Amino acid sequence: MDKIAIFFGPEDGAVDRVAQKVKNAIGEEKVVMIPVKGATVADLEKYDKIIFGISTVGKETWHTTYNNVDWANFLPEIAKTRYEGKTVAVFGLGDHVTYGATFVDHIGLLGRELMKNGATLVGQVPTDGYEFDDSEAVVDGNFIGLPVDEDFEPELTDERVKNWVEQIRPEFEF
Ligand SMILES: Cc1cc2nc3c(=O)[nH]c(=O)nc-3n(C[C@H](O)[C@H](O)[C@H](O)COP(=O)(O)O)c2cc1C
Repeated sequence: MDKIAIFFGPEDGAVDRVAQKVKNAIGEEKVVMIPVKGATVADLEKYDKIIFGISTVGKETWHTTYNNVDWANFLPEIAKTRYEGKTVAVFGLGDHVTYGATFVDHIGLLGRELMKNGATLVGQVPTDGYEFDDSEAVVDGNFIGLPVDEDFEPELTDERVKNWVEQIRPEFEF
């Protein structure tokens, strides 16, 4: 069976923690963990089943973000491949209290970039159960990936991850 690649970044923070939870929920032996720091299009092209994990740490552009350097460097690699025929999903870390007006915006930025390059995203999530004012991650009334708030709702993370992994299981065929 094809392995599922989880491209995640940055390392050692909330994204990393949640990426491990997603891996464990899928089954460790079925997953390859790839930090986006230093990853290239060659890494992306090796996999037909890809989950991306990102955080929102600044709302303007990739290049003015506070410390999302890993993703700022990796984003140009995303556009160098096509995603038709690949199974692709995104989860994203955010903070709905301090940043309610830009909640998990980078799920939206990344998701749009992927869709522009032919991806059909699986794992869309209803906004029910989330409190926020605005989010670039909402398209046609749903989040286009899984939002997770480890700053203010860490007690909900395990359930959110578990439900989402069950949701994407048929498309990812694991
Ligand atoms: C400078 C800064 C800006 C942030 N901006 C946003 C934001 O616009 N939207 C949001 O949902 N979360 C925002 N956050 C919250 C982070 O996304 C959240 O703390 C996340 O868990 C960080 O994960 P990481 O440590 O793996 O990068 C911001 C955090 C920082 C430090």
